[in-house]
Amino acid sequence: MAANAVSLSISSSVASSKSLHSLQAQARFLIPPPTISFPKSSSLSSSTTVSISRSRVRAGPSQLVNEPANAMATPPTIVEVDLGSRSYPIYIGAGLLDQSHLLQRHVHGKKVLVVTNERVAPLYLDKTVHALTIGNPNVTVESVILPDGEKYKDMDTLMKVFDKAIESRLDRRSTFVALGGGVIGDMCGYAAASYLRGVNFIQIPTTVMAQVDSSVGGKTGINHRLGKNLIGAFYQPQCVLVDTDTLNTLPDREMASGLAEVIKYGLIRDADFFEWQEKNIEALLARDPAALAYAIKRSCENKADVVSQDEKESGLRATLNLGHTFGHAIETGFGYGEWLHGEAVAAGTVMAVDMSHRLGWIDDSIVERVNNILKRAKLPTTPPESMTVSMFKSIMAVDKKVADGLLRLILLKGPLGNCVFTGDYDREALDATLRAFSKS
Ligand SMILES: NC(=O)c1ccc[n+]([C@@H]2O[C@H](COP(=O)([O-])OP(=O)(O)OC[C@H]3O[C@@H](n4cnc5c(N)ncnc54)[C@H](O)[C@@H]3O)[C@@H](O)[C@H]2O)c1
Ligand SMILES: [Zn+2]
Repeated sequence: MAANAVSLSISSSVASSKSLHSLQAQARFLIPPPTISFPKSSSLSSSTTVSISRSRVRAGPSQLVNEPANAMATPPTIVEVDLGSRSYPIYIGAGLLDQSHLLQRHVHGKKVLVVTNERVAPLYLDKTVHALTIGNPNVTVESVILPDGEKYKDMDTLMKVFDKAIESRLDRRSTFVALGGGVIGDMCGYAAASYLRGVNFIQIPTTVMAQVDSSVGGKTGINHRLGKNLIGAFYQPQCVLVDTDTLNTLPDREMASGLAEVIKYGLIRDADFFEWQEKNIEALLARDPAALAYAIKRSCENKADVVSQDEKESGLRATLNLGHTFGHAIETGFGYGEWLHGEAVAAGTVMAVDMSHRLGWIDDSIVERVNNILKRAKLPTTPPESMTVSMFKSIMAVDKKVADGLLRLILLKGPLGNCVFTGDYDREALDATLRAFSKS
């Protein structure tokens, strides 16, 4: 069933494209548009051979003939993102950067540009270049090492990728490889979408955030000083390679940040997964390999299922933004990079849940369970003290989910695992939530 069960006419609430200026000028919190309800997805089983309606898990591919034998290699779990001719696999497993055939089969042309940053390059660039070139002498690999951090997810840094690509004479048959977290993935993807009007693109995500969310689904882009991710393109990769071993070097704070997105999937569409997380959150923080592999797989299945039904975010895909409207306001208001994305999303999720509760849409126990799991994950449950009601309102007014000047939000409604994407809510509940969580 999954979201095939979504019975609605989404077209009536598709965001119209307004200029930033007119959005700012016209943003209001008044007239309710239609509500889109998203019943709980019941199709995801908890077994490792889960098969869901539109995203499939299949057995790993056999090795290429010229691949050096790796006796220890375990075939990856594969989650398929089903988008017709633009479908692609997500390979998930430990040690996948040592299984060079997985990457090489998705490289087009003879030139590859690896886009990474100063933090990740010393850790994984050599290994990635090796995986791309071993037994493959025809391929030349260039790399560009960008400064590290959300504050560099901008036009100036993007230009460094184009500079390198042009200097290296990369042609239309080249492949761009994103090696890093969500910042690198989003920037490299956008560069691949626009370089020569589009070249081949591979994602090698190395943070939890990127492995469970940002590398899947084709949203790419950069920030503008007036708002996050306002400039970008939908551009799908050829494959996503998730080597869970890369998480061994990830700082604890980044681990926790990524878990905010894992928790999100449970809340919006997968109550069984949320219950599993309640039992396993400490194991995830402790980087238990089996727990991590399961959480990544299940998260990718949820994301792939949503994306395959609503690639360009007409409705269903917007539900992946639970907590993000409040969270983006925190990231923008507080300054990019001060709070991690997942930390801002965690506080934003608590605010969205508080508002859902004020509206009478969910019961007390959900509020309590959300607060508990986020605290156990060592994530914030309130915004920074410097955030004011007017900061929230002015930043939320330029959110991409504003349509015709009306702010639509993802709110929980009904039993755990159900949400709505709607502008049809009592404005007083939003104001009350903003007042409860920030200074006036
Ligand atoms: N495209 C999407 O659908 C989507 C979804 C969610 C988030 N995002 C974007 O993703 C970004 C956040 O991603 P993120 O949380 O991965 O942040 P990030 O890319 O900044 O990575 C976090 C930090 O970890 C470092 N790092 C990465 N891999 C490492 C490793 N294996 N070992 C040690 N350090 C490592 C990075 O260099 C960085 O310092 C935001 O810009 C957000 O907007 C995009
Ligand atoms: Zn997010």
